[in-house]
Amino acid sequence: MSEWEPKIVAFLCNWCSYGGADLAGISRLQYPANIRIIRLPCTGRVNPKFILATLRHGADGVWVSGCHPGDCHYIKGNLYARRKFALLKNFLEYTGIIEPNRLHFSWISSAEATKFAEVARGVVDAVRAAGPAQHFIKKQAEVV
Ligand code: FES
Repeated sequence: MSEWEPKIVAFLCNWCSYGGADLAGISRLQYPANIRIIRLPCTGRVNPKFILATLRHGADGVWVSGCHPGDCHYIKGNLYARRKFALLKNFLEYTGIIEPNRLHFSWISSAEATKFAEVARGVVDAVRAAGPAQHFIKKQAEVV
């Protein structure tokens, strides 16, 4: 029987964090393979429903990462994203819908490959410590 490994979906801004991931790969920096990347034009595009759908479909954790404050190509998309993310995270954790340490947010520029790899390792470690997600997963219809 194989050992459980966390599945983490990362919503990355095309201009910054995705570039950081790309540079980490080009630089051959090691980070866990548990992260599935979805590239977006800006973190401001992350609708809270994306995060909920990701969790419902079996992700153990979600990571949103984009440009540093002042660097967003759409002026304030990253600030709106952080605000939406904080509200959703607090709501989901307060109500007990998900455990703490499943949702993560960061700002990583395209030049910060080392930071990308470090944060990726931190996110994977935190989600691994939280264990397999169980509360919010869509149940498969029972086949008769
Ligand atoms: Fe990167 Fe907005 S363009 S977060």
